[in-house]
Amino acid sequence: MPGQPAAGATHARGNAAAVAEPFGTAPDGTPVDRWTLSNGPVTVRVLTYGGIVQSVEVPDAGGRVTNVVLGFADLAGYVEHNNPGPYFGALIGRFGNRLAGGRFTVDGRTHQLPLNEGPNTLHGGPEGFDRQVWTTTDVSDGEVAGVRLTLVSPAGHQGFPGTLTTVVTYTLDAASRLTVHYEATTDAPTVVNLTNHTYWNLSGEGSGNVHGHVLQLDAEGYLPIDGTLIPTGEIAPVEGTPFDFRTPTAIGDRLRAGHEQLVRARGYDHTWVLGPTGEEELRRAAVLHDPASGRTLTVATTEPGVQFYSGNFLDGTLVGTGGRVYRQGDGVALETQHFPDSPNQPGFPSTELRPGRTYRSTTVFELPGDVRAG
Ligand code: GLA
Repeated sequence: MPGQPAAGATHARGNAAAVAEPFGTAPDGTPVDRWTLSNGPVTVRVLTYGGIVQSVEVPDAGGRVTNVVLGFADLAGYVEHNNPGPYFGALIGRFGNRLAGGRFTVDGRTHQLPLNEGPNTLHGGPEGFDRQVWTTTDVSDGEVAGVRLTLVSPAGHQGFPGTLTTVVTYTLDAASRLTVHYEATTDAPTVVNLTNHTYWNLSGEGSGNVHGHVLQLDAEGYLPIDGTLIPTGEIAPVEGTPFDFRTPTAIGDRLRAGHEQLVRARGYDHTWVLGPTGEEELRRAAVLHDPASGRTLTVATTEPGVQFYSGNFLDGTLVGTGGRVYRQGDGVALETQHFPDSPNQPGFPSTELRPGRTYRSTTVFELPGDVRAG
């Protein structure tokens, strides 16, 4: 019980575990499981369908546990509404965000992907990784609860060259860190840009908008976009704009500022550039704090960018996990990734992957943890 003295200085650990249960059947007949990762006061649920993070239950400052991510109550919700749609909690592949014209060139060969958002391909296409059933294994060890997901995407899947083998590991440790580690290999030159599309509402999913959440983004530059939300190629300084989150600022403070870039995207839907690119060390990207609940989320990543999306397309037509409707701004996504449209942008860090090399990427979501641990 919250507020009661624990056995030691921290919550009794050693209860880290991952448990699978049936969660329905995908449209192609493949059975889907839901994994429950638990460690201390934190519980994370992951679906084998799309590698979707369905729920993240964490305590607030007073020890009250709530689900702080947006999602659907059942598999049908994801199958029917997530793509095209909000991509709640999903693993995104093979290419996060947009590829202009759904086209890119590798080794002089141009590849045309199916288009699923106007003239562009979004989030790996209409049948992206978010709609695949991944195979899973338990990687828990008593201290850490974890599940490893594997997907083999055949050459030509959604138009991409090369057989891509992707392994994503979710682990939940005793310090309430949810780590997402990605690895991918290919048998032919290709491009890859993986991310996770969880939407956070630290007051609890379905509790209203996140405009009062205070956000810090450790970035001096961002990527302006054109009318179809493709980066122009420029890295613009955040200084003096509504894009400056170097000091913690409420999301809603400048959302209606009338800035041309905010009008284009109906809010924030841009990549923030995280310091010098090309480094592979984990560094802090974002801190999201909800004064109402006292909950704080910290995001660290090896990726060069973070897409901060303020839930602009949520329009009151979807009913979430807890039975409440999601409206514009009711959740915020912090998608750590390489820059959108990189293969078509010579100035951006490369997203090419060649045979013999391994794509590696890590993002750590430091969740609100055990209040008794201080
Ligand atoms: C990303 C994109 C947004 C939107 C969402 C999903 O954040 O940048 O424009 O497509 O995914 O709705």
